[in-house]
Amino acid sequence: MNKWMYVLIILALTSVALLLTWQVSTLAEVPTPESPGMVALGKLIFFDENLSANRTQSCATCHAAGVGFTGPDSITNAGGAVYQGALPHRFGNRKPPTAAYAGDSPVLHWDEAEGGWFGGMFWDGRATGAVLGDPLAEQAQGPFLNPLEQAMANPEVLCVRVKQAEYAGLFEEVWGAGSLDCAKDVIGTYERIGRSVAAYERSSEVNPFSSKFDLFWDRATAAGKDVTKIKCGMGGGMGGGMGGGAMGCPGGGTNGWASYRNLGLTDAELQGLAVFNDPNRADCASCHSLQPGPAGYPLFTDFGYDNLGIPKNPANPFYTMPKKWNPDGQNWLDYGLGGFLKSAGYAPEVYEPELGKFKVPTLRNVDLRPSPDTVKAYGHNGYFKSLDEIVFFYHWRAMMDNGCMGGGMGGNCGGMQDMFPPPEVDQNRTPLAMFPRPQVDNIVAFLKTLSDGYFQR
Ligand code: HEC
Ligand code: HEC
Repeated sequence: MNKWMYVLIILALTSVALLLTWQVSTLAEVPTPESPGMVALGKLIFFDENLSANRTQSCATCHAAGVGFTGPDSITNAGGAVYQGALPHRFGNRKPPTAAYAGDSPVLHWDEAEGGWFGGMFWDGRATGAVLGDPLAEQAQGPFLNPLEQAMANPEVLCVRVKQAEYAGLFEEVWGAGSLDCAKDVIGTYERIGRSVAAYERSSEVNPFSSKFDLFWDRATAAGKDVTKIKCGMGGGMGGGMGGGAMGCPGGGTNGWASYRNLGLTDAELQGLAVFNDPNRADCASCHSLQPGPAGYPLFTDFGYDNLGIPKNPANPFYTMPKKWNPDGQNWLDYGLGGFLKSAGYAPEVYEPELGKFKVPTLRNVDLRPSPDTVKAYGHNGYFKSLDEIVFFYHWRAMMDNGCMGGGMGGNCGGMQDMFPPPEVDQNRTPLAMFPRPQVDNIVAFLKTLSDGYFQR
């Protein structure tokens, strides 16, 4: 037997011993993720700026409650839309998605029936969840040590900072005596930190389902109306529509939007929702799903991946980052899921069809902002600066892909081809459904009903 075999055997024995003592000492006390103590602890960690290289940055710096747990800074959002890390001149390369309503994303997997990848965390799914069995907890470990984010040297430094925090007592209360031991069990502690943050991110404080839409959903359900079936419906003098015709949205008939009146949404919002949901109109819900999630309300994502053909954001500071971080300079292309799968060692026939695809984000709180002049950015690189712009892009993209038919232009694109720059990645683009220009405003009106804080549960 060589010396490595001895080392391996000793390692195996010690881990069994450790596991046994751990089980006796703490396993009985492992709290459920819903425990109020763990949620409170996770919140304190989430907002603790001391948990970064120079004590200036917390999760909330890039995921602030007032803007729906995404980036709060108008100036940043209006430009590169990418946030500086704790250390100066260090930028990541994507816009922060919301950290709310993310807890139901499954472990990243290929779905044979759907023929696509689903789950995981991040725009490209690289926090797969395979290690901890929970993508959200696994994601929460990342930013502390990411050199372009909170930039701490290693899990031990993080552990020591948590030990120094005022809430160190609460940590041991929640996770048991000895659960915050930075000498003996750094990795275990690191995992408990991730799971605590995830518990907060899954709490009702972060996922209150308290939007105008949720109130409408409750009222519709009580009235025996199924919101997942709302559609444009037939003409028939219900008013408010754009008239009949294949591309109008008159709202009559069974499940036509007009039959959902008097439940809290305006006619414009109802029409927007109908166009959003109707497979014969914009069909947004085929990705931003209206099917209720585990809490009984829709999450507006199917956790899948698609390439919409969003252009590059030339103001992204990542283009000018040193070679160490960005070897491709100005030629850098964000390949999303396909890029991750390639780096994870998958074969070309697996990753090539996924190049340019990004995770379908939830649309909850997509408009939430402290004041009307706060700028928010949309898309993985924050190219779009308003909901009007991105929804108009969907309208335009579908028209261009369909040879400008149906848009009242008789097959003539009328010089509209160049309204947006070319896609960042032009492979694997998803065909989008057409809907008439005037419906852009109604869809935006509907998206604005997804902001939490409209009512108290
Ligand atoms: C410097 C800004 C920054 C900081 C600090 C930061 N994040 Fe993020 N966060 C981002 C960006 C950017 C992404 C998207 C990165 C990507 O997709 O490659 C992201 C992605 C996420 C996601 C994925 C959401 C989804 O649906 O895929 C979650 C959850 C999240 N962050 C939570 C956290 C937590 C918890 C912390 C603190 C431990 C944190 N973030 C700290 C910028 C930041
Ligand atoms: C084929 C699936 C699919 C369809 C259909 C679809 N989306 Fe999306 N949506 C996505 C993906 C994927 C992204 C992220 C793309 C990216 O960043 O490159 C996204 C991003 C968005 C965003 C930006 C959210 C954010 O936080 O940055 C909004 C708003 C949005 N979609 C609204 C809509 C509306 C409205 C419709 C219908 C007109 C629609 N989507 C149809 C998949 C889809």
